Amino acid sequence: MLIVFTLLLGPLIIILVYFLSPLFLRKWIVDEQGHSIPPGPSIRYAFLRKYAEQALYDWTNKFGPLFLLWMGSQLFIVVSDPQIARDLFVTNGAIFSNRKKYFMKNQRQHRRLATMVLTPKAMQGYINIMEYEAHIFIKSLYDEGIRGTSAINPAHYAGRFALNNMLIISFGLRTYSTSDPLIAKALYLAMEFMDLTGPWSNSVDFFEILQRIPTRTRSRGRNLHDGLISVYGDMILQFKARMDAGEEVPDCLVKTLLETQNKEKLDWEDLCMLSAIFTLGGVHSTSGIILWFLALIPSHPDILIRAHEELDRVIGRNRWPSTEDEPDLPYVRAIIKEVQRVHAPFWMATPHFNSQDFVYRGTYIPKDTVLVLNCYSLHHNESCYPDSFTFNPDRYLGDELSCSESVKHSDVMNRDHWTFGAGRRICPGIPGAERELWLAIVRLLWAYNFEALPEEPISLQEYEGMSGRTPVPFRLRFIPRTTNLHHILKTADEIVL
Ligand code: HEM
Repeated sequence: MLIVFTLLLGPLIIILVYFLSPLFLRKWIVDEQGHSIPPGPSIRYAFLRKYAEQALYDWTNKFGPLFLLWMGSQLFIVVSDPQIARDLFVTNGAIFSNRKKYFMKNQRQHRRLATMVLTPKAMQGYINIMEYEAHIFIKSLYDEGIRGTSAINPAHYAGRFALNNMLIISFGLRTYSTSDPLIAKALYLAMEFMDLTGPWSNSVDFFEILQRIPTRTRSRGRNLHDGLISVYGDMILQFKARMDAGEEVPDCLVKTLLETQNKEKLDWEDLCMLSAIFTLGGVHSTSGIILWFLALIPSHPDILIRAHEELDRVIGRNRWPSTEDEPDLPYVRAIIKEVQRVHAPFWMATPHFNSQDFVYRGTYIPKDTVLVLNCYSLHHNESCYPDSFTFNPDRYLGDELSCSESVKHSDVMNRDHWTFGAGRRICPGIPGAERELWLAIVRLLWAYNFEALPEEPISLQEYEGMSGRTPVPFRLRFIPRTTNLHHILKTADEIVL
C-alpha cells in the first residue's frame, strides 16, 4: 500500500512542488546586497497559450512594466515601458544584447555578417530591385484576380514579393513565376521556423530533458532543420558552382559567406543556416504587415477615401508613386506606421539575455535571464497612443521621421513604435523593410479599391504563426481604380536573374 502510495503520489508531489516553486524562490533569490527579483506570477509555466501577448498584457497591468516569470527552468523578464526598454537595451546594451541559444536555432552570431551585406550603399542598389518587385506584385494581383473580377487570397503574392527581395539580397536570384515551387516551400519553412522558435511556443527549449526524448516538437524541429539545409543548401551549391566556373556572380550574402568561409570558420551547416535564417527573417515580417494592411483596409473606408484623395491630389492617375514621392504623401506614411503599431508581426521581438548580474531600479536581474520586449503592451500604452486600440493613422501625422530615424529619437516616449526591436540587436534590415513596405502599400493604394466578400468576414483578432504573425487566410477583390493601371503594368515583365 505504502509503495503504491509513494509511486503514485511521490512524482505528483515533485511535479507540484516544481511548478509552485516560484512561490518560495521569489523570496529566496536575492543578490549580495539583498535586492529581490521583480514581481510576477507565482507559478512556473511550460508554455504560454496561443495569444501569448494577451497574457503578457494582463500581467503587465497586474505586476507592472518590469515583471519576471519562469518558463520551465528559464527566467524571463518582460519589459513593457519605453523608458525601461531604453535603459536596459540601449543604455546598458553591452549587458543586455546577447541572444539565447535556442534548441531549434543552430545560430552563431550572424549580425556582423548580416550588416556586411546591408550597408547603406548596398541598400541604395536594392531600391531599383524593390521598385521592380513591387511592380510585379501589383501585376500578379491584377492578373490572378482577373482585373478585379475574381476574389483572391493575397498571401502567396505578398509572400513572394518579400521572398524575392530577400532572395536577391541573399542569393542574387528571384522566383520568376507565381507558380515557382520554391515560393510555397520557402514560405512554409519560414512559418515553421517562426512557430518553433517563438519566445513562448517551445517547451523543448525550457525543459532540457525534452531535447532527449522523441516529442512532436522535436521531430518538427528536425524536419525543419533538414528542410532548411536541403532548400538553402541547394541554392548555395548552385551559386558556388557558378563561382567555381569563373562566372561573374552578383554581390549578395552568399557570396560574402563563401568568400569569408575560412576566415569566419563556417562549416556547411553554418553556411546553410546563416543564409536560411537571414532570408526567412525578412519574409513573413514584411509580407505580414502588407497582409494586415489588406485585411483591415476594407473595414476602414473613411481612411481609404482620405488616402485616395491624397494620392489623386499629389500624384494624379497618369503615373504611379515611387520612392521619391514619400515625403509628399504624409497620410499614406501615417497609415503604414499605424499598421506597424497595431499589427506588429512580432509582438515579442527576438529575446535578448544579459551577460552579467544587474540591479535596475532596486530589483535584481540575475545573469542569463531572457529579456523580452513586450511590443503589444508598449503599443497599447495610453500615454503614448491615446485610444490605443483604435486604428487611427492621424496619430502619426506630423511625424516626419522614418522608422530608422525614429529608433534613435532623443525622447523615447515619442518613438514611433517598437516593431523592429531595440538596442544593439535591433533589426539591421529596417531601411530595406521600410522601402519595401512603402512601395508595396503606396502602389496598392494607388492602384486598387479593395472589396471584401460579405459572406467571408475578415478577422483582425486571430492570426497564424506563434511569432511572425500573419492574418488568417482571407480573400479580396482588387478593383483597378484607373484604366491607366493596365498600361503601367504592361511596362514590366518577369525576368530571370
Ligand atoms: C517589416 C519587416 C521586418 C520586421 C518587423 C523585423 C523585425 C525584427 C525584429 C523585431 C528583430 C529582433 C530585434 C531585437 O532583438 O531587438 C529583427 C532582427 C533581425 N532582422 Fe528584421 N525585421 C524585418 C525585416 C527584415 C529584413 C528585410 C531583413 C534583411 C534584409 C532583416 C534582418 C534581420 C536580422 C539579420 C536580424 C537579427 C539581428 C541580430 O540578431 O542582431 N529584417 N528583425
